Amino acid sequence: MRILLTGGAGYIGSHTAVVLTQAGHEVVILDNFCNSQRSVLERLKSILGKGLLCIDVDVRNTASVSKALRDYQIDAVIHFAGLKAVGESVQNPLKYYANNVQGSISVLQAMQEVGIKTFVFSSSATVYGDPKYLPYDEDHPTQPMNPYGWTKLQVEEILHDLSKSDPQWKISCLRYFNPVGAHDSGLIGEDPNGIPNNLMPFISKVASGELPQLNIFGNDYLSKDGTGERDYIHVMDLADGHMAALDFLSNNSGWHAINLGTGVSTSVLELVEAFEGVIHKKLPKEFVERRPGDLPIYYAKVDKAKNTLGWEAKRSLQDMCRSSWDFKKKNLSPAQ
Ligand code: NAD
Ligand code: UFG
Repeated sequence: MRILLTGGAGYIGSHTAVVLTQAGHEVVILDNFCNSQRSVLERLKSILGKGLLCIDVDVRNTASVSKALRDYQIDAVIHFAGLKAVGESVQNPLKYYANNVQGSISVLQAMQEVGIKTFVFSSSATVYGDPKYLPYDEDHPTQPMNPYGWTKLQVEEILHDLSKSDPQWKISCLRYFNPVGAHDSGLIGEDPNGIPNNLMPFISKVASGELPQLNIFGNDYLSKDGTGERDYIHVMDLADGHMAALDFLSNNSGWHAINLGTGVSTSVLELVEAFEGVIHKKLPKEFVERRPGDLPIYYAKVDKAKNTLGWEAKRSLQDMCRSSWDFKKKNLSPAQ
């Protein structure tokens, strides 16, 4: 298949590009590099032994997306392109609705014009909001707690309406839990600029000495050890999940929301301990106030992914920590 990956130069997209290419698919990346580096393309070339086609364009440029779909005779689109910083979405909601919702509509309009109807969407566990019960299954009520989450839910709804209007559409909304880890080569991974918001990149920067200590946001939650619990999933497992979703859609039309997680809930302290086990040293850490807006615990029910996609996560917490650390060691800032 020829697959267009919007946002394919980003963290999850680049790992998915590797998995799909190595499985024999032809991948074209479309990205405006607003949150990724062009050097990713060279790194993908080193991993794959061949370069991937890349179009430098904003997904909101519908004419350019249509042209790419036609020029490269694309069969399916995986739509990763989007902004993902929850805090920024609260400060600047219009930027998020414009990029994430308008951007998705633009890609769908281009697809409709060209007659391509297979679409995989990067959704998020954040669509569920405050847990009414756990683990979240796909029928759990949806009530996002911030504009970022609403952009994901709104696109899901648009996709649902689209599939009802034309039963030929084949749509999968993949609700990711907490992607972490990196490709085994250490060449691609998650490398946020400055001070990371997310736990794993923060831990990596403490381990490398780029940051002095880990601040653990809260130790008085009603959780296994008082710290927040999440469902961390290795980004390579997540990438495999996208290929499974495309395989599934080749035989199934309609709209399908599917959780991609491990089904395992891990506390901040458990993740830190696993990381310390990998690097054989203790990390400086301190308990601080809860982070506003954080949920205490959530994790995925993964039966639907297993039953419909025939996919389940295979990699361990140690694999996630080891690959994150390997990536960090290979990508230290010059001062380190
Ligand atoms: P990322 O920022 O690393 O990758 C997104 C890519 O999209 C970047 O390369 C960026 O340059 C590109 N992009 C953004 N807006 C664009 C636009 N208008 N036109 C063209 N390209 C654009 O993020 P990621 O972690 O790889 O996430 C991929 C998708 O998965 C996003 O939609 C994100 O919301 C979703 N998601 C991520 C997580 C997570 O924790 N990483 C969790 C749930 C869902
Ligand atoms: N945490 C710390 N210290 C840190 C960073 C995080 O203690 O420096 C804790 C948080 O309080 C939370 C856990 O580590 O308990 C995980 O936090 P992350 O920021 O790594 O992840 P979140 O679950 O808060 O959010 C992530 C993405 C969102 C996405 C959500 C659901 O950042 O974009 O997962 O997929 F919506």
